[in-house]
Amino acid sequence: MAISRTFTIVKPTAYKNGNLGKILTIIEEHGFSLKALKILRLSVNQAEKFYDIHKDRPFFKDLVDYMSSGTVAVAILEKDNAVEAYRELIGSTDPSKARTGTIRNLFGTSIQANAVHGSDSDENAIIEGNFFFKESEIV
Ligand code: CMP
Repeated sequence: MAISRTFTIVKPTAYKNGNLGKILTIIEEHGFSLKALKILRLSVNQAEKFYDIHKDRPFFKDLVDYMSSGTVAVAILEKDNAVEAYRELIGSTDPSKARTGTIRNLFGTSIQANAVHGSDSDENAIIEGNFFFKESEIV
C-alpha cells in the first residue's frame, strides 16, 4: 500500500457540539497525519461549488444551507491507502447505520449532520483539498 491523502470536513454540528478536538484525536490515533488544517465558515456559494456533484439531488439545497450555517474545520490527511482507510474510520453516511465506534456513529446526529465528510476517491481528495488549501498551506 502506498501513502496517499484524503480530505475531510468536520461539519457545523460536530464543531458546535465541541467535538472537533475529539475527532482530530481519533484521526491521529488511527495513524493519519494532518497535512493541512483550518477552521472557517463556508459561504453559500462555496458550499454550492463544493457539493456541485449533488446539485440534482433533492437534498442539495438543505445540504448547502446546512454546510454554510456554521463553523466547519477542513483538513488534508495522509496515511497508507488514505481514502479507503478514512471511509472505514468514519462509517456509513447515515449515522444510525454506521458501525459502532466510527466517527459518524459517535458524533453524527442525522444523515445531514453526520459529523464529517470524507473524499470518495484519490482524484476527488486532490480536487477537494485544492478547493480549500493553497500549496503553501499544505505541509
Ligand atoms: P457527505 O459525505 O458530506 O457528502 C454529501 C452529503 O449529503 C452527505 O455527506 C450527507 O450529509 C448528505 N446526504 C446524503 N444523502 C442525503 C439524504 N438522503 N438526505 C439528506 N442529506 C443527505
